[in-house]
Amino acid sequence: MKNYMKLEIAAISENESFARSAVAAFALNLNPSLSELSDIKTAVSEAVTNCIVHAYKGKRSPENKIFIDCRAEAEQGEGVLHIDVTDFGCGIENLDEAMQPFFTTLSPNERAGMGFTIMQAFTNSFSARSVKGEGTTISMIKKIGAGGKEELNA
Ligand SMILES: Nc1ncnc2c1ncn2[C@@H]1O[C@H](COP(=O)(O)OP(=O)(O)OP(=O)(O)O)[C@@H](O)[C@H]1O
Ligand SMILES: [Mg+2]
Repeated sequence: MKNYMKLEIAAISENESFARSAVAAFALNLNPSLSELSDIKTAVSEAVTNCIVHAYKGKRSPENKIFIDCRAEAEQGEGVLHIDVTDFGCGIENLDEAMQPFFTTLSPNERAGMGFTIMQAFTNSFSARSVKGEGTTISMIKKIGAGGKEELNA
């Protein structure tokens, strides 16, 4: 089974919970466990929040868009969910630095600097592409029903 879903949303905080619920609803066809579903929601939530607060700096404008592209593949009871979250905001100058745990460009009182670390921990594969002034795409893969990371690395 192959399936896909494309979502375009305004980069406003009200859409963060909508986005994570929409991706979770799409993932249901892969028969995820509650824990896998929760991982997916958490990872999507972190990626979308970053678009809103960093890429577009919290500015509410109809021009500020987030694209969420999902692809699902299922075979013999095992599923794979690909999730891409794209913004067209400021971009990230130094990706290696941004990925470091506790690194944040906002006040550490406001942000923990743990978003990317959480996305990596809650998915089986994570990568980021970014061009300064053009935007960022976060690509994540979550395996469903296959025992998670350990089995991937085995
Ligand atoms: N989509 C994005 N566009 C531009 N910059 C980004 C984007 N996502 C992340 N960043 C940059 O990478 C840094 C690290 O992101 P990360 O999500 O790990 O931490 P944070 O958002 O600062 O804090 P937290 O996620 O814990 O609230 C951010 O502080 C920001 O500078
Ligand atoms: Mg973050």
